[in-house]
Amino acid sequence: MSVVVLISGRGSNLQALLEAGIPVSAVISNVAGAGGLAIAAKRGVPTMVVKHGDFPTREAFEEVLAREIDRFSPRLVAHAGFMRIVTARYVDHYAGRAMNIHPSLLPSFPGLQTHERALAAGVKIHGCTVHIVTAELDAGPIVLQAAVSVLPDDTAGSLAARVLKQEHLVYPRAVRWFLDGRLVIANGKVSVKGNDAQILYSDRD
Ligand code: GRF
Repeated sequence: MSVVVLISGRGSNLQALLEAGIPVSAVISNVAGAGGLAIAAKRGVPTMVVKHGDFPTREAFEEVLAREIDRFSPRLVAHAGFMRIVTARYVDHYAGRAMNIHPSLLPSFPGLQTHERALAAGVKIHGCTVHIVTAELDAGPIVLQAAVSVLPDDTAGSLAARVLKQEHLVYPRAVRWFLDGRLVIANGKVSVKGNDAQILYSDRD
């Protein structure tokens, strides 16, 4: 029933998962000293660091990463600010049991600097997406999205903060659905048994 969480940094999404009572059996970071490691340790969750820079290839890194993950036999691998592109081999190994949270309304703005790009594009609605990990970067069946208004005086920072609040709501919800066996994936689309809303909209914060 457990979840292994992969991080690279601050760990606020990890914290939201823990605060929501998601059973996290381990946290693995590819960056030594990532803030999320301390958040996990404080709660007695085992932590590990597997530094991508220590390996000659992406495949070699992932082999060790997967070995560490699989020691915990998780039901789900939750990428939470895990800033590595994964290979098709990794995706195959965790097919249908790896999730990611991305700070945009996919398929708009995959990749980095999503808030800057949303502002530059002049979109009026922005947000975040929880999706199943597939071989294509920041693509994959969409589980849940949260939208926020883009305000006229927004900066990338203010927009990021407003989106992050939503991330902390949707990620635990999506993970809980997964663990409860409520997600149905068919034809690349996800529905939720019981018809819970797969969209959240917050007009201000
Ligand atoms: C979040 O915005 C997440 O969506 C993105 O990276 C950020 C990580 O934040 N992929 P945190 O480490 O969870 O605080």
